[in-house]
Amino acid sequence: MLSSTNPTISNTADLYQLLYVSRITSIGLSGASTLNDIAKISVKNNKADNVTGILCYGNGYFFQYVEGSEQALTDLKNRILMDDRHKDMHTLEISALLKRRFTGWSLRSITLERWMLSDSRVKALMPFKPYNWDAKERRQFIDTLQGYYEEQKNIGDIDTQPIKYNVLGLTLSKVVGEHQAFFLIQTILGLLIILTLLWFMLSDKF
Ligand SMILES: Cc1cc2nc3c(=O)[nH]c(=O)nc-3n(C[C@H](O)[C@H](O)[C@H](O)COP(=O)(O)O)c2cc1C
Repeated sequence: MLSSTNPTISNTADLYQLLYVSRITSIGLSGASTLNDIAKISVKNNKADNVTGILCYGNGYFFQYVEGSEQALTDLKNRILMDDRHKDMHTLEISALLKRRFTGWSLRSITLERWMLSDSRVKALMPFKPYNWDAKERRQFIDTLQGYYEEQKNIGDIDTQPIKYNVLGLTLSKVVGEHQAFFLIQTILGLLIILTLLWFMLSDKF
């Protein structure tokens, strides 16, 4: 059962927020698509449980803020605690909430994206070490993400799940779109392999 740290807020709507930080484990790191896997199952479950929020990953740390009913967050916290893809889960806040911040995001999974690093408020919090942040810094970070959410909502582009690649993939995804970037990288790698094989075959002949 969650206990509210802010009993002065009347919470007839049964709405709570949960905020925690944790560290990725070697199991999490060794998974080829850990962040995508988490995002995929989370969007599905959170939609069903009417949970909304964000999961930010960077520098080996997770920072998750979710909102929902007391029961939904209790169940979610218990599931997350058991997950061996992260460790040292440190709950920073569990409290009643009057209004959701991220109504349309069943879970937006965010790696430290370029726009964040160019935002002066986020830049001031870098390198990303959320264990060291005080309450004001945490608020500042969530406020910035909420601002980004409002912006996305206005251009009708909410609940998009970014596909994570390496730096090259992320750059390409900005240019040609997320899914196309994946295929483009595969194609380029395939061509490079073919060219290398041809090079070896031809260099034998001359
Ligand atoms: C950092 C982190 C954040 C997660 N966030 C969520 C979440 O918001 N919602 C969710 O359902 N699962 C989340 N998960 C996954 C859960 O730990 C668990 O694997 C999943 O809920 C199991 O779902 P299932 O019982 O439907 O298979 C998260 C896992 C990690 C490591």
